[in-house]
Amino acid sequence: MKDKIAIVTGANRGIGRETALCLAKAGMTVVMACRNFESARVACEEITSLTNNPDVAVMKLDLSSRDSIRNFVEDFKNRYGKLNILINNAGVCTMDRKRTVDNFEPNIGTNYVGTFLLTMQLLPFFEKGTDDRIINLISNIYKIGWFRFNRMNGYRWFRAYAVSKYMVLLFTLELAERLRDRGISVNAVHPGIVRTSIMYTHRWFDLIIKIILTPFFIDAAEGARQIIHLANSEEARQISGACFHKTRRKKIPRPYNSPKLRAALWEYSSSLLKNQPIKGTVS
Ligand SMILES: NC(=O)c1ccc[n+]([C@@H]2O[C@H](COP(=O)([O-])OP(=O)(O)OC[C@H]3O[C@@H](n4cnc5c(N)ncnc54)[C@H](OP(=O)(O)O)[C@@H]3O)[C@@H](O)[C@H]2O)c1
Repeated sequence: MKDKIAIVTGANRGIGRETALCLAKAGMTVVMACRNFESARVACEEITSLTNNPDVAVMKLDLSSRDSIRNFVEDFKNRYGKLNILINNAGVCTMDRKRTVDNFEPNIGTNYVGTFLLTMQLLPFFEKGTDDRIINLISNIYKIGWFRFNRMNGYRWFRAYAVSKYMVLLFTLELAERLRDRGISVNAVHPGIVRTSIMYTHRWFDLIIKIILTPFFIDAAEGARQIIHLANSEEARQISGACFHKTRRKKIPRPYNSPKLRAALWEYSSSLLKNQPIKGTVS
């Protein structure tokens, strides 16, 4: 595992931190790609001391900013130059209405647009024939994530979160198809309902969630289990284009896996890479 290089986004806390810890334990070189540098540095020190793995590092990444993604990729190229495992874990479920610096609704701009831009710019660093893997974090809530391109900025909070996760799922399936010949596997994981900060909104109903629902949540280590399995195990090597609910492989209901919609999302998203005017953005 020593030669393997993994990037985990949002690795400073929650499921991402657990994932980074397990990959570091397995002896990989782990890049913690984080927005909050200070908290990431503390997490990195803890992981290093828990695992005795000196090859764990923090790099700055804000997925809601195209410039930050570009800088991260440039920096990664200079420091590492190759990649084996990409875990697209970072995400938000926010009520905030303030658009991202690139003028996207924040859930969609971070969870989908940021993940798409980062992944596409990192593809050149996967080497041919080295059993490389991409794992995207989704949520079962994608089932209420139907969307229209001309309303991209019109969704709010939970609905926008669902839309963003549905887009990540469609992206996963499309990318898995496109990368099949390159030997890079791409899968999606819903980690379960996990006791992390994303479950709380800093509003009055947090109290209800805490008292009534929290006992039913799983912890971050359990939430990370399938991600680790897909990243690390020999058994997972042949799996691509699959969707997991915790450790169970789930069939995606046919209406959610429309090749037409996948292709349309791919075309829409590719235009973001070319720095073209963004179709569908509502000003
Ligand atoms: N918890 C659940 O029940 C659940 C269920 C389904 C899916 N998921 C998915 O699992 C993933 C991990 O969530 P979690 O439960 O571990 O939540 P969490 O504890 O809130 O962690 C979210 C992580 O994402 C990072 N992040 C947020 N916005 C970012 C940005 N613009 N750029 C870079 N990093 C950013 C956060 O960094 P900061 O510290 O800087 O905010 C944090 O490290 C998410 O994709 C989430 O949608 C979680």
